[in-house]
Amino acid sequence: MICMHSKFVLFLSVLVFTGCNSLRSQQENIVRKDFDFASKQLLVAVSEVEKAKQNAIPGKVSPRTLNADGGLQLVASRDWTSGFFPGSLWYMYEYTNNDEWKELAKKYTAPIEPEKMNGGDHDIGFKLYCSFGNGYRLTKDPSYRSILIQAAKTLTTRFKSNAGIIRSWDHNTGKWQCPVIIDNMMNLELLFWAFKETRDSVYYQIAVSHAKKTIENHFRKDYSSYHVVDYDTITGEVLKKNTHQGYAHETAWARGQAWGMYGYTMCFRETGDTAYLEQAKAITHFIFTNKNLPEDLIPYWDFDAPGIPDEPRDVSAAAICASALYELSLYDTENAIQYRQWADAILDNLSRDYRSPLNENRGFLLLHSTGIKPMNIEIDVPLSYADYYFLEALLRKQKMKSR
Ligand code: GLY
Repeated sequence: MICMHSKFVLFLSVLVFTGCNSLRSQQENIVRKDFDFASKQLLVAVSEVEKAKQNAIPGKVSPRTLNADGGLQLVASRDWTSGFFPGSLWYMYEYTNNDEWKELAKKYTAPIEPEKMNGGDHDIGFKLYCSFGNGYRLTKDPSYRSILIQAAKTLTTRFKSNAGIIRSWDHNTGKWQCPVIIDNMMNLELLFWAFKETRDSVYYQIAVSHAKKTIENHFRKDYSSYHVVDYDTITGEVLKKNTHQGYAHETAWARGQAWGMYGYTMCFRETGDTAYLEQAKAITHFIFTNKNLPEDLIPYWDFDAPGIPDEPRDVSAAAICASALYELSLYDTENAIQYRQWADAILDNLSRDYRSPLNENRGFLLLHSTGIKPMNIEIDVPLSYADYYFLEALLRKQKMKSR
């Protein structure tokens, strides 16, 4: 006969078991529900892009955001955001395995090709790796491979050997001699890929040199990062530490922190160097223990913006962090549960409170991102890269299940 105590323990176990199962299925549902939503909403986007192209000047290829009048803002392939929309379409193909998404992804990827020769800025990685890179990963189309190798070659032309870094921008020559922005960490993934494909170590050496210099010069004691570090290309000396998109030189611009966290997690994956893992962990600690991070984990556009809590959020930074957290949880097993809880919470909150209603906002998935607040550009708007990293995070979450 089971005594009262045993019955109570059994009852509790059933409750916990049922609770865990329902939490797990709720989490699995989020991926399914968000991709179900995206499969409808991105078709709206495709139709809106085609309509907008008819009235746009030739050469506009991808959606970036909404204009103040609610119209779709299309960009040319040279814009740093041009690869995200095709990238989102590739993620739809990856999730659904449906050839209709593949055909759409191919169609919107093709116009980005000229960027393989554009050495005018460091964003070759964003443009080509999110579009052709995902396409090559999923299709192994050899023509995509050649395009990506050419893109990586072009990116190496921006390497300044005396300073050991890749130059980010060519604009604002009166202000900076050789600016490097924290965002540049993301472009290293293309170089690591090219090294694996070609075994030419030059790609690897440049990527590692840039990552090391960025650890040396971009970070403060608390592991927050400056946005822009200006180098002397002859002596390699650091000339200035500035911001461009943050509130002030000494503040922590939210998306910059997210780029750093994602970038060093990726560098650890590609090199196995634990210095990068430690850097990623420390940046994560800065972000997720920050007193100004809201309870729903969707950061304000700058962690030190003066009007907090009445400052715009940056959903794009949250989506980048969620994606990076899932990957980091694979490498830092000690903190894996915490990282996945944070990432799950971000996805839950984005899905519940930041998603566009279906058929609205010209097919964008997420609302409330901030592009360049100091210049009054793209405040509280949808952005194509927020959607891209949201889908990437959902896919990474789904892959966690099979581990
Ligand atoms: N890479 C530019 C930005 O994050 O706004």
